Amino acid sequence: MSESLITVSYLAAAALFILALSGLAANETARRGNMFGIVGMTIAVLVTIAAFVTDNLAVMVVIMAVGGVIGFVLSRRVQMTQMPELVAILHSLVGLAAVLVGFANFLDPSIQYTGVEKTIHEIEIYIGIAIGALTFTGSVVAYGKLSGMLGGAPMLLPARHWLNLALFVGTIVIGAKFVGETSHDQAMIWLLIMTAIALLFGIHMVAAIGGADMPVVISMLNSYSGWAAAATGFMLSNDLLIVTGALVGSSGAILSYIMCRAMNRQFLSVIAGGFGTSSASSGGPAAEGEVQTIDIPAFAELLNDAKEVMIVPGYGMATAQAQHAVSDISKNLISKGVNVRFGIHPVAGRMPGHMNVLLAEAKVPYDIVFEMDEINDDFPAVDVSIVVGANDTVNPLAQEDADSPIAGMPVLEVWKGETTVVLKRGMAAGYAGVDNPLFLKENTRMCFGDARETLEALAKAI
Ligand code: TAP
Repeated sequence: MSESLITVSYLAAAALFILALSGLAANETARRGNMFGIVGMTIAVLVTIAAFVTDNLAVMVVIMAVGGVIGFVLSRRVQMTQMPELVAILHSLVGLAAVLVGFANFLDPSIQYTGVEKTIHEIEIYIGIAIGALTFTGSVVAYGKLSGMLGGAPMLLPARHWLNLALFVGTIVIGAKFVGETSHDQAMIWLLIMTAIALLFGIHMVAAIGGADMPVVISMLNSYSGWAAAATGFMLSNDLLIVTGALVGSSGAILSYIMCRAMNRQFLSVIAGGFGTSSASSGGPAAEGEVQTIDIPAFAELLNDAKEVMIVPGYGMATAQAQHAVSDISKNLISKGVNVRFGIHPVAGRMPGHMNVLLAEAKVPYDIVFEMDEINDDFPAVDVSIVVGANDTVNPLAQEDADSPIAGMPVLEVWKGETTVVLKRGMAAGYAGVDNPLFLKENTRMCFGDARETLEALAKAI
């Protein structure tokens, strides 16, 4: 394949990836954005194979077919509620790939650089393996936390900040030794030691992060996986991989910033670990009030009298798969002339945009779905707020208890409305492990049960 055809194809793929990202920025254009991404990736893979694979084509096709079938079967089987874990484990594969490519590059006898070129190539390998290794183990731990295999509580080692600093300094010192090393075998030993340190750092970094701060970790690992891919692109001298990795890396970094802002966190405090985790299991100050329940007929009556209704979904809507029931109720109320709106917290659920995806799947119109910032001041004018399986994102303790793991995180102020009905199965705490005084407020009614069953019964009653 000619040089110019490769360049043109790579440019086209890069342009399609940029269009994909800009499409994904809004609900209405997300499908189109995804399509651009798929076409861009197809071009990228086909051109790379045609241009650069000279030997072992059959082996590669078989391996791609096996990987493709595994990916296809897994993506067909994965439940909507398991998407965050899936994303985390996919990030780990990008990290692992960067590590393996780095070692393969280092061991490849056909790659012989001298002078400055050799130094630059070694730095590329070193950085690629370092980012890849920490992305790998960090993502595996994130997978464990998100899937519930590991507890959500942070692992707070006594001198954790010093440990992080020691690991970081160790990585730099070993890097200097690796780059200056003349013996290939000794350089390999330095590389292996650094890999072990980076693997440990990935585990420690994510294990130290408390449940409430996990959204930042997910977007941060997304960003790291991009930088790992970009470093791999440098190792392989592949321009498209550099551009693609940089796009993923920078968009992940922007998402991390947005997540930090949504949670009122300093990015560095989050990645240093254990931020705001002093009382993960405590409920903060003893909440006053008592639980008042509501049954379906009374709930239906409340809605029949309402003019302004706000629906606030959370992770429980995803686990109950209640999005279609939510959509039906909202359509029913709208047809009766009620002004129904949805208030979405940026970290509701378990992945960025989780609630938006579910509501879009259930065909809730985009123009009645609002971000927290757009809607939070409107609660005093709301007659009934329906909290569907949300907990941390509507917890007033975030504003009231400075020692709480969620302290300072902006929350949807549902309690300012006239009546709030909370749909959940019991009095369990949310992801951050904090009790929620909202459930005891005078104007709150608890409607216990599976959210989907409750809403289906409610639909019949209104
Ligand atoms: P959560 O605080 O996770 O609470 C969800 C609530 O849903 C639980 O209290 C649970 O109570 C209820 N629930 C579970 N299954 C239910 C069912 N079948 N029917 C009805 N209710 C059910 O939810 P949230 O408000 O969305 O907050 C998200 C939390 O996850 C935040 O702490 C956030 O930081 C964290 N997080 C977010 C992300 C991203 S990127 N969004 C990633 C990782 C972590 P019961 O058991 O009593 O029913």
